Amino acid sequence: TGVPMPQNEPVKEYRAGSPERQALRQALQEAKRVEKELPMVINGKPIETGKRIRVVPPHEHKHTLGYLHEGDASHVTQAIDAALAARTAWAETSWEHRASIFLKAADLIAGPYRAKLNAATMLGQSKNVYQAEIDSACELIDFLRFNVHYMTEIYSEQPYSPPGVWNRLEYRALEGFVFALTPFNFTAIAGNLPTSAALMGNVVVWKPAYTQAYAAQVIMEILQESGLPDGVINLIYVDGPEAGDVIFKHPDFAGIHFTGSTGVFQTIWKEIGNNIGTYKTYPRIVGETGGKDYILVHPTANVTEAVVAMVRGAFEYQGQKCSAASRAYIPASLWPAIQEGVKTELARQKMGSVEDFTCLFNAVIDERSFKKLAAYIDQAKADGATIVAGGNYSSEEGYFVEPTIIQVNDPKYRTMCDELFGPVLSVYVYDDEAIDDVIELIDTTSPYALTGAILAKDRYAIETLTKKLTNTAGNFYINDKPTGAVVGQQPFGGARASGTNDKAGSALNLLRWVSVRTIKETL
Ligand code: SER
Repeated sequence: TGVPMPQNEPVKEYRAGSPERQALRQALQEAKRVEKELPMVINGKPIETGKRIRVVPPHEHKHTLGYLHEGDASHVTQAIDAALAARTAWAETSWEHRASIFLKAADLIAGPYRAKLNAATMLGQSKNVYQAEIDSACELIDFLRFNVHYMTEIYSEQPYSPPGVWNRLEYRALEGFVFALTPFNFTAIAGNLPTSAALMGNVVVWKPAYTQAYAAQVIMEILQESGLPDGVINLIYVDGPEAGDVIFKHPDFAGIHFTGSTGVFQTIWKEIGNNIGTYKTYPRIVGETGGKDYILVHPTANVTEAVVAMVRGAFEYQGQKCSAASRAYIPASLWPAIQEGVKTELARQKMGSVEDFTCLFNAVIDERSFKKLAAYIDQAKADGATIVAGGNYSSEEGYFVEPTIIQVNDPKYRTMCDELFGPVLSVYVYDDEAIDDVIELIDTTSPYALTGAILAKDRYAIETLTKKLTNTAGNFYINDKPTGAVVGQQPFGGARASGTNDKAGSALNLLRWVSVRTIKETL
């Protein structure tokens, strides 16, 4: 039954004069020209409530991209009812047919929808062209294609049957509906969370972040065009607690596929716990949450590699990747050269609108994030930390925060511990001889364990650090930045307060969306 391992979707370069660049320019213009209505989509039908919420580009908040239509508890109920009505037919649809819908969606994104979805991600989430391309094109296409491959791997895993007996495993869909709660920062994640559960035969209620609604709408359009039956994935915009109040009290709630903050995930988990007697089945709880991702530079590291890892790992997409480095530990012997390197590199880069393709850095997602970052930076200045680079911010046109490096004296200073989710990297310079203290700090300074990177050339150091840092990251990088996991290559997820570590883009994740029936037939 197997579908072969696909190849990763190649990243397009968008060079001047290239057809993809032209298509993207057109898509950007088109998106800027019309203010779109962004309805909920329940049972395949657009639902406009008239309660319109303005959707703006984070880098140009005077412009209006469109208006999402917010619903209430009654729409959540409608979405659940639509999902449950579609459930039996969908669960009984052959896996080949289900696969073909998502493979079609991947092809549509790779081809005719690529420019439109990238433009939506660029404008709606303030991603530069490269960051949009690796997210809403390549990563989402890869999720869709690789998940089909992993699904068939799961299905082909069958037990031994002695003569006279036929044993088999039936990979049933969960009995109920799955709730997908998706974040602003990756269009690929927003697309993957509902579709991976649906691929395995589940019906879904999908609530994207409002700040990702513009691209979410395009994903929904693509899924519908791919032939997804009505009711299988229902898109809702409803205030979180109001939606949760309906969903987590529903007897048919069968699982949550979540990416977002640790606080929200813990609240949801408690809510599920409180209602545990209500459900027909124990719900699957799958979540990727916060991080305080680190870079550890060893005295034997290559300085240029360390500089690249810091600049790209901490500041691409304004540090708003769950995998982004936000604390770095640098040996005193290398700090002067590394400091010089990062300053030079940052000074060369521009910050501005995504429509200016020469800007490496764009805006942070919204006012709340902007204010939080500004407050942390100001406090760090007041507390006497050294601002090595950046430190300025402005919300005049958009929510711009300069890539900022803060050198701290206290390795447990708040910016070394708290998740800021923005372009702020805190650096602690350690005595070359005190590497064991640094290992201890990495392990204990934050409750998270999502990603981490070490840079070292000494083989013994690499081995020792890898071993001693075992529990500090679900995705661990040696001589690389801690971001940019590729589907099919580095399954992604973290443990501790960073999530349930059910590796997105792998069979481990898809296994959570099936409930196996073991069948023994005596022949
Ligand atoms: N998968 C992304 C990365 O590795 C983060 O969600 O950067």
